Amino acid sequence: MASSLFGSSLTKELDLRPDQFTYLLDLAATLKRDRKSGTEKPMLTRKTIALLFEKTSTRTRAAFETAANHQGAAVTVFDPQSSQIGHKESIADTAIVLSRMYDAIMYRGTAQETVEELAKYATVPVYNALTDSWHPTQMLADCLTMQEHSLKPLNEIKFTYVGDARNNMGNSLLITAAMMGMSFSIGAPKSLWPDQELITKAQALAKANGGEILLTESATEAVADSEFVHTDIWVSMGEPESAWKERIDLLKPYRVNAKLMLSAAPTAKFMHCLPALHDLATTTGKKAAKILGVNDGIEVSSEVFDSTANIAFDQAENRLHTIKALLVATLVAP
Ligand code: CP
Ligand code: NVA
Repeated sequence: MASSLFGSSLTKELDLRPDQFTYLLDLAATLKRDRKSGTEKPMLTRKTIALLFEKTSTRTRAAFETAANHQGAAVTVFDPQSSQIGHKESIADTAIVLSRMYDAIMYRGTAQETVEELAKYATVPVYNALTDSWHPTQMLADCLTMQEHSLKPLNEIKFTYVGDARNNMGNSLLITAAMMGMSFSIGAPKSLWPDQELITKAQALAKANGGEILLTESATEAVADSEFVHTDIWVSMGEPESAWKERIDLLKPYRVNAKLMLSAAPTAKFMHCLPALHDLATTTGKKAAKILGVNDGIEVSSEVFDSTANIAFDQAENRLHTIKALLVATLVAP
């Protein structure tokens, strides 16, 4: 199993060929097994990774930091407040400077152009750890998780995403499903569908790879027979607080509750990249629940989130194993 990914950046899913995506999933499964059996060997000793955060993170930061630590690498976390990035120093200069000291650069922020600019000027691999457009490292974890919870190969799996489908998660799941030849449906109001250009591209890719893409405004039609039902928060990072009212009005019919799960396959699992508003334990969750007029979750009901169908925490753990695979594949010379 030879990787052709040494020295490569991952700015979006389409940077990878399907065989490279599969290679990363296989490597992640191996690294996960090694970690669990206590046989993991550090392959990134003395490597250094710069982690640039313009937006907040729990899982992605934790995954990059722990993956690096397990493999013997060191990280530095930068944010706009404690560095010159953006306000005093251009992205191009930042990329050049960091490339002189680090073996890789990770970026989480708003604009896709920023991570692409970093990759253009850096001489080391650059990883997109979420922009408004794409969340490619999340896709590796999502596919590994679906693979682990299904008896079928990835290209025979049918899965769904309901909710805000023109955000990073909607775009990324759509293009990943198309690349990997999966059967995928989106259930969302038309005004929250991905850009038409992206839909057309995904449909062509799916056709070439033996997959199927369905977009519908009916949540029940979307989830019909699906093995996995994904959703995401209804208002993403960087969107104004005032978006909640309008978004709740639009997305109310797409809430993942027990009734909607009944339309999916009998053994269907629930997935969410997290963080999720699934109860009243957060301030945002409380405020949104008041607008929605419920006493529990927003995009997912407490009943579903607390049930055995929920595999979102397996999905979260897999961020570690898949990000570790990405680091090893791109930083260890074959
Ligand atoms: N899923 C995900 O990216 O989580 P964080 O925002 O906590 O990193
Ligand atoms: N769509 C969400 C994903 C969080 C991991 C956001 O961008 O906030």
